[in-house]
Amino acid sequence: MKTHFASLVAFVLTAGSVSARTVFSAIAVDGVEQGHGIAVRVPTTNNPVTDISSPSIICNTDFIQPVSSAVASVPAGGVVSAEFHHTPAGYIGPDPADPLDPTNKGPVIAYLASIPDATQTDVSGLKWFKIFEDGLNPQTHQWGSDHLFNSGGFANVTIPSCIEAGQYLLRVESISLSSATSYPGAQFFLSCAQLEVTGGGKASPATVSFPGAYTPTTPGITANIYGDSTYTVPGEL
Ligand SMILES: *[C@@H]1O[C@H](CO)[C@@H](O)[C@H](O)[C@H]1NC(C)=O
Repeated sequence: MKTHFASLVAFVLTAGSVSARTVFSAIAVDGVEQGHGIAVRVPTTNNPVTDISSPSIICNTDFIQPVSSAVASVPAGGVVSAEFHHTPAGYIGPDPADPLDPTNKGPVIAYLASIPDATQTDVSGLKWFKIFEDGLNPQTHQWGSDHLFNSGGFANVTIPSCIEAGQYLLRVESISLSSATSYPGAQFFLSCAQLEVTGGGKASPATVSFPGAYTPTTPGITANIYGDSTYTVPGEL
């Protein structure tokens, strides 16, 4: 009996500890895999960022060393697939919480920022513009996180054809809103990819700063995923 009880407790604890945690650790460019950690700044843990005023909200922190010195070339108008998995190691086999725990709902959002050198360490002061968002579809009740789960961790982001050629960081985040009825509570899982956009045009989209784009009162930073039937994705598109 005692043994059974102990294993029951262990089972319940294990089941309860399945977490939303996820890490964006690789990209594909127009369907071509670049390799794990190539041209992506991969954090060493899958811990969430929860402080939206912290520099970690820019590109995360505490990266696997050495950080990739690769810059992935992408034609303007091309598709970059941001690949999320449960741990920083990427896909390591069947795992009910890969790419993330499907019970943890929330949006997936991507921003670009022009940068002199996509491999430079300093990411402060960049001007970000949103190029992708996947929040809550009120018809299907599916979240961006559901699409991420169903796609095996791929968030496919089209690089606008109108932006200027040059080096950029691509910031992609999966936000878990399971404990987000008040701030702090939302959990941000994000990384930045290092890109060289070729071709392109002359557009200069309106931009925001990180930190700054999100505040505790920005719509979508708090949410009740168990009650709300609509959701506003944070940040302007
Ligand atoms: C996303 O891109 C990957 C390749 O990078 C591809 O295998 C997958 O089919 C794409 N998913 C969608 C929904 O287009």
